[in-house]
Amino acid sequence: MEETKARETMIQVKDLYKIYKMGETKVHALDGVDFEIYRGEFCAITGPSGSGKSTLLNMLAGLEHPTKGEIIIAGKHIEKLNEKQLVTFRRERVGFIFQSYNLIATMNAVENVALPLSFRGIPKVERLKRAKQYLKLVGLEKFMKHLPNQMSGGQQQRVGIARALAVNPQIIFADEPTGNLDSKTTMEVLKLMQKIVKERNQTLVMVTHDNNLATYADRIFKIIDGKIVHIEENHKEVDLMALEQIYEAGGVIENQTATSDETVDPEEISEPEIMTEAEGGEEV
Ligand SMILES: Nc1ncnc2c1ncn2[C@@H]1O[C@H](COP(=O)(O)OP(=O)(O)O)[C@@H](O)[C@H]1O
Ligand SMILES: [Mg+2]
Repeated sequence: MEETKARETMIQVKDLYKIYKMGETKVHALDGVDFEIYRGEFCAITGPSGSGKSTLLNMLAGLEHPTKGEIIIAGKHIEKLNEKQLVTFRRERVGFIFQSYNLIATMNAVENVALPLSFRGIPKVERLKRAKQYLKLVGLEKFMKHLPNQMSGGQQQRVGIARALAVNPQIIFADEPTGNLDSKTTMEVLKLMQKIVKERNQTLVMVTHDNNLATYADRIFKIIDGKIVHIEENHKEVDLMALEQIYEAGGVIENQTATSDETVDPEEISEPEIMTEAEGGEEV
């Protein structure tokens, strides 16, 4: 079981507050939040609209300053960094996946994916090579030259994922990444994200208002009115096929537990990267 493994803390949040002043009234968007997220973990932050999910994610990503509290990422207090240092922090460690894709309309898929690499001073030939490699990884080898408006929503989101991953970030933040996608494409995109981050022992923090999608995560944080009210360990191996069928039928999941006690011999898996965390993955 993973409890016996030494877990390396990637993100630590202590007593975090974000208060927005709106004229006379104050909105406690985050109202005293504490938690830790470990390296290689996929955490979902769920909660109703207006509960503070995006505020929390933006704060973790260093896009907004907290009113009070500490955010320690990979040993660094990011609430103490200035704007310039935050830009560096984001460039070096963080990948973003947005609900609205945020692709540049006049750039094709390769150019969009290559763009963040240019901020890192990677030479053009290498940038384009790497961008193509990541587009292949997300199954878009035939769409390299396509502009965003020449692709479906799911394809655009996969470009967004390739762009986030191409810089090989330690942490990926995703805010409602499948919010604009149909249910089938949602499943594909989620499976893809889950698989890639597991393979690379990256940390994925995903915000969603959809409890069903959260079942993909290792842990589920429930936030209401700016407070984390529940953290659920999701030990169960979710039966993705079953989940997909339920989604396609337009149904709701009730206690969708899967029984996966059997251990798999990694030698027997043709694609070693599909090992689950419980079966071992890369040690740190
Ligand atoms: N820039 C802002 N100024 C004022 N209030 C804000 C701002 N951003 C968010 N809020 C408020 O903070 C609360 C949490 O918002 P948000 O984090 O966007 O929720 P969620 O992502 O869960 O829907 C809401 O009441 C929202 O209206
Ligand atoms: Mg939001």
